[in-house]
Amino acid sequence: MRRGKLVVGNWKMNGGLEANASLLVALLAGWTPSAERSLAVCAPFPYLGQVRDALTGSKLAWGAQDLSPHSAGAYTGDVAGAMIAEFGCRYVLAGHSERRQLHGETDALVAAKAKAALAAGLTPLVCVGETLAERDGAGWQTVVGRQFDAIAAALAADLARVVLAYEPVWAIGTGRTASPAQAQEVHAFLRQRLQKSSAEAVQVLYGGSVKAGNAGALFAMPDVDGGLVGGASLDAVEFLAIAGA
Ligand code: 13P
Repeated sequence: MRRGKLVVGNWKMNGGLEANASLLVALLAGWTPSAERSLAVCAPFPYLGQVRDALTGSKLAWGAQDLSPHSAGAYTGDVAGAMIAEFGCRYVLAGHSERRQLHGETDALVAAKAKAALAAGLTPLVCVGETLAERDGAGWQTVVGRQFDAIAAALAADLARVVLAYEPVWAIGTGRTASPAQAQEVHAFLRQRLQKSSAEAVQVLYGGSVKAGNAGALFAMPDVDGGLVGGASLDAVEFLAIAGA
């Protein structure tokens, strides 16, 4: 049985105490909770306490954008899942394409991060997606299939406890979104693989230039269970419109 739709804002490395406060107040004022729709924001580490203080007791969930695959120790600059969980986070991103591209994160590392998140009681939002060169070259099936299989192999039955996000790299921050049909094609492919591993209840979100104007058509696709929203999640009006689309 599939769950309702989930819309998650990924603030990336944006925000500040003052801007976050206004954004969170506006989200709280404008969000009408429903059984069908859930809303969450993933903030930079230093602001997790601020987000917790603002959202505790509300129907909005929150999370972090990355975590260490290790539980503690000599890993300067890294943040453990247990630390993130202490701030009331429900979610943590793992394997965002910006981490894969800018920090050289491999499929194996992403899988280890997803495992560490589950061990800390967090729900990993595991990202997959191909670059334009990969789409034109090896093909998205090869790349997304490889990324998915690494996670599925590492998590086994625990795969049922993650949220997946398909984020074609060519659509991130470019204003060039995948068409609803293109998104559906990849989501259906992921759904089929999930069914093979008996994890069909997993939500599969779409990310990449989601805006109020295209969210409705994307979310109407049968295998698109919501969105992972970057730039548009920094604007309360736009983000709430996406959440309600
Ligand atoms: P944009 O919505 O800014 O394209 O970013 C998508 C994304 O990377 C969300 O994680």
